[in-house]
Amino acid sequence: MKCLRQFFMLSVLLGLLGAGSGLALAATPAKPAESPKDLILKGDAKCTGCHDEADDAKPTMLDLHPSVLSIGKTKHGTKADGRTPTCTDCHGESEKHLAYRGNDSPPLTDRDFRKKTKTSAAERNGACLDCHQGGNRIGWQSSAHSTQDLACTSCHQVHARNDKVMGKATQTETCFTCHKEQRVQINKPSHHPVIEGKMTCSSCHNVHGDNPKQLVKNSTNETCYTCHMEKRGPFVHNHQPVSEDCSICHQPHGTNVDNLLKARSPLLCQECHSHDSHPGQAATLPNGTTNGTGFLGTVGRGCMSCHTNIHGGNSTVNSATAGRFRR
Ligand code: HEC
Ligand code: HEC
Ligand code: HEC
Ligand code: HEC
Ligand code: HEC
Ligand code: HEC
Ligand code: HEC
Ligand code: HEC
Ligand code: HEC
Ligand code: HEC
Repeated sequence: MKCLRQFFMLSVLLGLLGAGSGLALAATPAKPAESPKDLILKGDAKCTGCHDEADDAKPTMLDLHPSVLSIGKTKHGTKADGRTPTCTDCHGESEKHLAYRGNDSPPLTDRDFRKKTKTSAAERNGACLDCHQGGNRIGWQSSAHSTQDLACTSCHQVHARNDKVMGKATQTETCFTCHKEQRVQINKPSHHPVIEGKMTCSSCHNVHGDNPKQLVKNSTNETCYTCHMEKRGPFVHNHQPVSEDCSICHQPHGTNVDNLLKARSPLLCQECHSHDSHPGQAATLPNGTTNGTGFLGTVGRGCMSCHTNIHGGNSTVNSATAGRFRR
């Protein structure tokens, strides 16, 4: 960059001379003073006169990733789109930075996005929200991430050609830097196919939003129904905990028990249904007659080998049996 910077200063100087002798220049249509041209974004010349390919080769320059100009290859580089930002929309007008002509490091830009920054998260985010407050970020200010002072750039790498957090295969890397517990869960034997790259954390979470647990819908069940519609019902025979909250029985990230279950049956069921004899009763129910099924000897057998429709059934064949999710 050094030599280019000198070149840039020279051209600024020439520019000044040119302005001073405007008439003379106008009269002689000789070679005009070369001023830097925009390289990737409209109006970027005032920055890219110094920050060009040479910067990209300097790993020390960038503490996060190695390329300034690669932003031209991202969605922020669509010049034809009038909404596309230029350098100063994010970094600020940065007049002191621009005016500096010394040989050491110039004063910082108005908004410093580096890791050890003194620019507040709210101020850094403000730059992005000027354009992105709508859509998924309507509730950003009251989201768990915002109230924990996360910045947009805690997750997004806007100069990188591939913003990791946007990629199906790479998103979790970003989340796991802070969410170690979910990393452990999602690697358990029974899990949603997230590490396989078929789903992402953002299939269930809007990490910009203010829903409970930052879910994409405003409850766990509504979120699950977006893919497991058949569990929505209403059924002729509903199982109360199912319509209440799927996560009573399932841990959505992963468990050691098949089907993402928090415990094996019969233990899972016996948290609510009495275990001293089969048939059990939901703990909250008054004891009534039991049809004498105690002889069934369910010990050591999975409850679901008989109660197959545990999420609810629609059978009207034999309402007593169906009502117990057995058909
Ligand atoms: C006259 C040359 C020059 C111009 C013009 C220039 N910079 Fe810089 N910039 C530098 C130098 C030198 C550094 C320090 C590099 C280092 O420390 O290795 C720097 C550092 C930076 C940094 C990192 C430090 C910080 O403030 O966060 C950013 C970001 C930056 N420039 C953005 C811009 C933007 C945006 C523009 C246009 C508005 C711009 N620069 C224009 C020379 C320039
Ligand atoms: C959409 C907002 C945005 C735009 C547009 C943008 N930048 Fe950046 N820039 C950032 C962010 C955020 C960082 C911090 C690294 C990251 O997250 O990618 C950064 C980092 C930098 C750095 C490196 C600072 C360091 O030491 O890590 C330089 C230099 C820089 N930008 C210059 C430019 C120039 C020149 C332009 C115009 C061609 C530009 N930026 C356009 C947001 C932007
Ligand atoms: C001047 C307006 C403007 C500013 C400022 C701005 N963006 Fe954008 N951003 C856009 C536009 C336009 C798009 C492209 C939208 C599209 O294609 O629908 C975009 C797209 C994105 C995308 C989607 C990229 C993809 O691959 O789909 C992300 C993520 C994003 N911006 C993050 C940020 C962050 C973080 C900041 C602040 C550091 C920021 N933006 C600042 C205008 C802006
Ligand atoms: C906790 C990590 C995280 C933070 C913090 C974050 N994002 Fe995102 N962002 C994501 C993920 C993950 C996606 C991909 C969502 C998807 O696949 O639907 C995304 C997608 C986007 C998109 C493109 C899709 C859309 O929702 O329109 C934009 C634009 C965007 N983010 C802007 C922002 C802005 C602006 C901020 C700060 C106010 C921000 N993000 C903060 C993780 C984050
Ligand atoms: C299949 C949907 C789904 C997927 C995929 C998913 N989550 Fe969740 N996540 C949930 C639900 C539902 C909850 C709230 C229920 C609960 O507390 O168990 C939750 C809760 C959380 C919580 C809050 C935990 C707490 O105790 O408050 C964090 C953090 C979290 N998820 C991170 C992640 C990360 C990181 C990923 C990707 C690796 C991810 N989630 C993928 C559904 C999902
Ligand atoms: C820079 C650190 C950081 C990154 C990166 C990050 N988070 Fe978080 N996240 C937090 C903090 C801090 C909280 C609030 C405290 C907590 O619950 O752990 C949080 C909370 C959450 C919650 C619970 C929200 C609630 O209302 O309780 C979910 C869900 C979540 N994050 C998902 C994600 C996902 C998905 C990603 C990746 C796209 C991600 N986070 C990336 C730091 C981070
Ligand atoms: C974005 C779509 C999506 C959402 C949302 C979703 N799932 Fe899934 N779910 C899947 C996929 C895909 C599979 C794997 C199916 C397969 O492997 O055949 C799966 C499998 C399962 C399984 C069986 C796991 C196994 O070991 O076979 C259970 C249980 C489950 N999901 C429960 C839930 C719950 C509870 C929620 C809400 C917290 C939820 N899912 C939300 C897509 C989703
Ligand atoms: C009372 C405990 C319980 C609740 C609550 C519950 N499930 Fe299940 N779920 C199970 C059991 C037990 C299995 C294993 C079924 C088997 O072994 O036949 C299962 C299996 C599944 C499966 C994989 C097999 C299949 O049937 O497709 C999915 C998907 C699933 N549950 C989704 C959900 C959703 C979505 C909710 C919330 C609407 C939910 N579950 C609520 C106990 C429960
Ligand atoms: C969170 C508590 C809870 C858990 C866990 C639970 N149930 Fe239930 N179950 C209930 C409640 C409440 C009812 C409603 C009782 C009613 O309406 O008669 C019920 C009803 C039933 C019924 C029908 C009872 C009848 O009188 O018709 C059967 C059968 C049943 N559950 C089996 C199971 C099995 C098998 C499991 C384990 C996979 C299980 N339940 C897990 C709370 C639970
Ligand atoms: C061998 C088959 C079988 C197994 C295994 C089994 N059940 Fe049942 N269950 C029945 C039958 C039969 C009834 C009587 C009503 C009916 O016709 O559905 C019943 C009834 C019930 C009822 C309703 C009780 C009432 O009020 O009448 C509950 C609750 C129940 N079972 C829970 C469980 C639980 C929990 C397990 C696992 C520990 C389990 N069952 C295992 C066959 C079985």
